[in-house]
Amino acid sequence: MLLLSLFQLVTNVHLQDLSSSHIPLDCVCLIFSFHLSLISNRRLLSWSSSLALTQKTSKPGAPHNVRLYSIASTRYGDFFDGKTASLCVRRAVYYDPETGKEDPSKNGVCSNFLCDSKPGDKIQITGPSGKVMLLPENDPNVTHIMIATGTGVAPYRGYLRRMFMENLPNYKFGGLDWLFVGVANTDILLYDDEFNKYLKDHPDNFRFDKALSREQKNKKGGKMYVQDKIEEYSQRTNHVMT
Ligand SMILES: *[C@@H]1O[C@H](CO)[C@@H](O)[C@H](O)[C@H]1NC(C)=O
Repeated sequence: MLLLSLFQLVTNVHLQDLSSSHIPLDCVCLIFSFHLSLISNRRLLSWSSSLALTQKTSKPGAPHNVRLYSIASTRYGDFFDGKTASLCVRRAVYYDPETGKEDPSKNGVCSNFLCDSKPGDKIQITGPSGKVMLLPENDPNVTHIMIATGTGVAPYRGYLRRMFMENLPNYKFGGLDWLFVGVANTDILLYDDEFNKYLKDHPDNFRFDKALSREQKNKKGGKMYVQDKIEEYSQRTNHVMT
């Protein structure tokens, strides 16, 4: 993509205001602020493309490694200023399967770096990279089924903001968006308040079903994973897909 090289920026990081949404302990929702507007070109930071974080490796003098994360906001950013972008990152911790003890040498380097970052820190970012997934523009009334586990919900959070929060004159979502999320427990649901608000405000256009593997049982008595939740509604999901 043409603009890739323009987007080599050092940005300030802001941790999301924790009072606005519950964020589990081992996750961070980071908001990066940029010094220039991201919406001057509409291809830049399109929905659900990813930002790459460049981070120094532990070896002195070694080149930076690039790690890709999905953007959890739209091109208007979190504050509708076009100068912010959100990522949602879970701290990757490695436990030795034999001893069950944490082995810090195998912990995720970039996720720990991000989870330990503080408001005001400067972090080098490049992007967007990878494939870009856009909402269909010619028909705002189609059905979307979105399935995610854990921080995989990040790109969908951007879509949902577009559909139900941003209220743009040129896009009025009139279809159905059905979001399935899978996590272990209620307390690690991400952006839950935001999604529940959409459910309340747009009951005809949004469905939100959660699979909580450690709190719910599937119909065979096992753990409730996201695929079991989808199966519960298979008649309806099959219907909306045809
Ligand atoms: C989408 O649905 C709305 C409301 O039902 C309707 O007014 C609009 O014309 C539809 N748009 C398209 C492109 O079909």
